Amino acid sequence: MYDKKVAIIGMGYVGLSLAAFLGNKVRAIGVDANKNKINSLLSGIPPFYEPKLEYHLKRAIKNGLRFADQINKEIVSSDFVFITVGTPTDSNGKIDLTNMKSALASIAEHMTNLQNKPSIIIKSTVVPGTTMRVIKQILEKNGLRESVDFDLLTNPEFLREGSAMQDTVSPHAIVVGGSNSKSIENLTKFYRTIYKKKQNIVETNNVTAEVIKYANNAFLATKISFINSIANICQKLPGTNVDKIAQIIGMDPRIGNQFLRAGPGYGGSCFPKDVQALISFANDIGYKPILFDAVKNTNSLQVNAVLNLIKHNLRNLTNKKISILGLAFKEDTDDVRESTSIKLVNLLLKHKCNVMVHDPKAIDNTYQMFREKIKYSKSLSDVLTGSDCAVIMTPWENYKYLKEKDFLKMRNPLVIDTRRILKLDNKKILYIGLGIGN
Ligand code: UDX
Repeated sequence: MYDKKVAIIGMGYVGLSLAAFLGNKVRAIGVDANKNKINSLLSGIPPFYEPKLEYHLKRAIKNGLRFADQINKEIVSSDFVFITVGTPTDSNGKIDLTNMKSALASIAEHMTNLQNKPSIIIKSTVVPGTTMRVIKQILEKNGLRESVDFDLLTNPEFLREGSAMQDTVSPHAIVVGGSNSKSIENLTKFYRTIYKKKQNIVETNNVTAEVIKYANNAFLATKISFINSIANICQKLPGTNVDKIAQIIGMDPRIGNQFLRAGPGYGGSCFPKDVQALISFANDIGYKPILFDAVKNTNSLQVNAVLNLIKHNLRNLTNKKISILGLAFKEDTDDVRESTSIKLVNLLLKHKCNVMVHDPKAIDNTYQMFREKIKYSKSLSDVLTGSDCAVIMTPWENYKYLKEKDFLKMRNPLVIDTRRILKLDNKKILYIGLGIGN
C-alpha cells in the first residue's frame, strides 16, 4: 500500500470502479449520499451489474476500503479528493450541476483549518469552464484560496460500462488539467506510482481537459451516427452489407476500425447526455454546432429504422407478439438509461403490439419503467415461442449462440437482427439484418 489517502465522492460507475481499484493500492474511502447504496457497498455488493467489479470491491474492502454516507473533515483532508458525482442533463438540455454543487458545498464547509492542502479532482464530466469558474467559486467560500488552501484539477474519465474495471485498471490515457504545475505534477506522480504500466499521461489546463472529454465522446458518437447512416443506405442496396464496408474503411488508419458497428443507435448515460450538453454549451457561447445536431438527430431517428423493418415485414402491427432480445443499452451491463430498446418498446406499445422482453441482466430495471404493460421472460425459449417477430437489440454473447431451431418455435419466424450477430439460413425463417440490403 502506498502512503496516500484518497476519498472518492459519488459511487456511480466511475467512482465505484475507482474506489474498487484504488482501495487495493492506497487508503481509500468512498462516499455517497444514498444510504442504501452505502449499506450495500459495506457488505461488498455493487448496486449495479458490472463485470469483475464485485471481485475488486471485495478485495479492496479486505485491504481497508471504507465507505461513508456523509462528507466530514477527515474525508476532505485526504491527499486526493476525487469528485465523481453524476452530471445529468436538465429539462433544457443543459448540464445539471445539482449533485456537484451540493458535494462541493459540503467539502468547502469541512475544509476550513485543515493541516494539509488537499487536491480536489473533478472526474465528473463538466462543460468547459465549469471547474475554474463555478467549482472554484463554491470551494472558495469561507476564505479558502485555490493553490493556497487546496488544488483544483480536472481529470476526465473515459471508462465504458461493461468494461469499467478493465478501463480503470488500464486506461488508454490519463488527462490531468490544472492551473499550476506543482498540483499537476503531484497528481501525475500519484498516477505514475499507481499504474505499473506506462500509461499515457497528458498534462494540460483545466478547460482543455474539460473540452477533451466532450470532444472524445462527440467524436465516438459521430462515428456511430455515421456508420448507422451508411447502414440505412445499405439496407436499400441489394448485395451490400454495412459490416463489410466498415471492415474495409476501418483498415484505413486515418479512420480506425473501432466504433463502426452499426446498430439501433447509441444509448447509455454518456453519449446522449454529452452530445446534448455540448450542443447547448456551443449555442450558449454563440456557435451553432450543426454537425453535433446532425449526430444527435441521426441517433434519435435510428429507432425508426428498426420500427420500419418490423412494419414493412408484418404490415399490421396490432396485437402482434413482438419479442425484444436485449434491453440494456449495450452488452455486459444492466443499465437501460437511454437504451434504444426502451424507445422501441414504447413505440410498439403505441402500435398496440404485445411486447415480450428478454435480457440476461436488465429485466429488473426495465420492470421499473413498464411494470405490467409488457411481459418479461428469463428464458430465450419462452420469449420466442409463439412470437410474430423477434428483434435482437443488444449484442449479448449468449444471443450469438441462438440456433435456427430456437426461432422455429415462433408463430411467424421473422428475425430482425439490429447488430447482425446471427447467421440464419433456413427457408422457414425470414432473417433481416439491419444494414444488409436484400
Ligand atoms: C462511453 C464512452 O465510450 C466512454 O469513453 C465514456 O467514458 C462514457 O461513454 P459507454 O456509454 O459506457 O461509454 O459505452 P460504449 O461502449 O461507448 O457504447 C455506447 C453506445 O454506443 C452503446 O449503446 C453501444 O451499443 C453503442 N455503439 C458503440 C454502437 O452502436 N456501435 C459501436 O460501434 C460502438
